[in-house]
Amino acid sequence: AIYPVILCGGSGTRLWPSSRSDRPKQFLKLIGDRSSFQETILRVMDLPGAHEIVVVTGRHMAELVERQAREIGANLVVIIEPEARDSAPAIAAAAAYVRAKTPDGVVLMLAADHHIAEVDVFREAALTAVSAARTGLIVTFGVQPTNPATGFGYIKPGEALPSGVKSIDAFVEKPDLETAKRYLAEGYYWNSGNFAFAAKTLLEELDTYEPAISNGAIDAVEKGSRDGITLHLDAGAFATTTKKSLDYAVMERTDKAAVAPAAFTWSDLGAWDAIWEASIRDLSGNTATGDVHLINTRGVLARSNGPFVGAIGVEDLLIVAESDAVLVCRRDDAQAVKTLVDVLKASG
Ligand code: GDD
Ligand code: MG
Repeated sequence: AIYPVILCGGSGTRLWPSSRSDRPKQFLKLIGDRSSFQETILRVMDLPGAHEIVVVTGRHMAELVERQAREIGANLVVIIEPEARDSAPAIAAAAAYVRAKTPDGVVLMLAADHHIAEVDVFREAALTAVSAARTGLIVTFGVQPTNPATGFGYIKPGEALPSGVKSIDAFVEKPDLETAKRYLAEGYYWNSGNFAFAAKTLLEELDTYEPAISNGAIDAVEKGSRDGITLHLDAGAFATTTKKSLDYAVMERTDKAAVAPAAFTWSDLGAWDAIWEASIRDLSGNTATGDVHLINTRGVLARSNGPFVGAIGVEDLLIVAESDAVLVCRRDDAQAVKTLVDVLKASG
């Protein structure tokens, strides 16, 4: 049995002013008319062998999760974290839930904030990864890097294994720029942030490397309270887990890691330039959403979720209007939106 598990915890500060703490980026309809959370569900909803889809999220996002799932007719089980403790405790809780239902169940762990253009290619890679996961491997999806980004995990592939995946010689989470440049030249993959593993394999690896995470998560599920499709994790037990991402907690250390090379076009929709990149653009490279009119512009992303926006004769700009705030930013400065948000936070 395959259990797709969607981790839904991020906020996405670089997508201000659309992304806010009560409206995180995975719920925004950034590409087309579906949010990346909805795209993620649709990608796996009818995957052969897939059981119920499990979403792990915080209490303040539960309502949005349920509303957006209803919009696309998806049935979910929602595991609610009493507090965010990063991805390892979140996925450990899902694995504990799955193992209790199906001792040899396989988890297909999916980030909620990715855009994948070729869904068929993804599904094929997912089925390969799942069959390798049944042999006790923790399988990542390796995508071809395009630049020495420092916000990703890097994977050095090893020998080919019979199950159609490759072993991993090294997994390095978020290297510095110099190291990332070297990895790019040496043929490393980017870790796409999606994984496949048997629930029991992950819990065993956590027992070895981070026992506070597996013990606390198993306890939080056992002592949790069920309310319809929702499972509230026990707060006391969950608080004993170590705050860490899966990448540091397990992937950098385990010898069970493998990589399924994946040929899909992938974006983690990190900042507005990535949204421009993943969007369908006109012949001048513009993409417009909402009440927007562009005259003689090139390479512009313009979105409005409120006032009419007009732009004339500008190039390579990001223009994003909400009812209470407007962003105007050079496209090659998209990362700096985080700085602006920090300033706003500091000034209250
Ligand atoms: N429920 C829950 N609770 N989900 C969480 C939490 C949490 O406390 N923390 C993170 N997540 C979810 C995010 O919503 C996202 O879907 C996923 O876990 C990954 O977390 P990020 O915080 O976005 O990780 P990252 O982008 O820094 O790094 C990961 O993804 C990269 C690709 O986008 C790593 O796996 C990298 O190796 C990878 O390259
Ligand atoms: Mg991310």
